[in-house]
Amino acid sequence: MITFSLNGQSIEVDAAPDTPLLWVVRDHLKMKGTKFGCGMGLCGACSMLIDGNSSRTCITPISSVAGKDVVTIEGIGDQQTLSILQEAWVEAGVPQCGYCQSGQIISATALLKQNPNPSDDDINNAMSGNICRCGTYPNIKKAIKQAAS
Ligand code: FES
Repeated sequence: MITFSLNGQSIEVDAAPDTPLLWVVRDHLKMKGTKFGCGMGLCGACSMLIDGNSSRTCITPISSVAGKDVVTIEGIGDQQTLSILQEAWVEAGVPQCGYCQSGQIISATALLKQNPNPSDDDINNAMSGNICRCGTYPNIKKAIKQAAS
């Protein structure tokens, strides 16, 4: 059994230690908000917060999160209320196909927690690991800046 905090609740899972966190969350816990893209740690679609840092969970073994604090897109804001960043995201009309967006919002959330007033370079650096095939990068930056203001 592996115990960790998921979206503020302590949970125990029975999974092989090398099972990626992404599959524990999607398949064992049936939370489908976090997406699978490349499976190789390259695209950022699978990002979750682990102890506040945006992390690629397709290459994160579940054993490595024992005792840690994991937050998925379902844990950003709450069930009734969007976070300030999510509100800015909606207002800026960021998504096109939407597939990468949960990972984008997770990375942007980590950025704003660590740097509440990021420069363009800060945003580019923090978001460079999250790929968007639709090219929504200008609107992502706009939403982050609006949430920061
Ligand atoms: Fe994990 Fe692409 S699915 S980085």
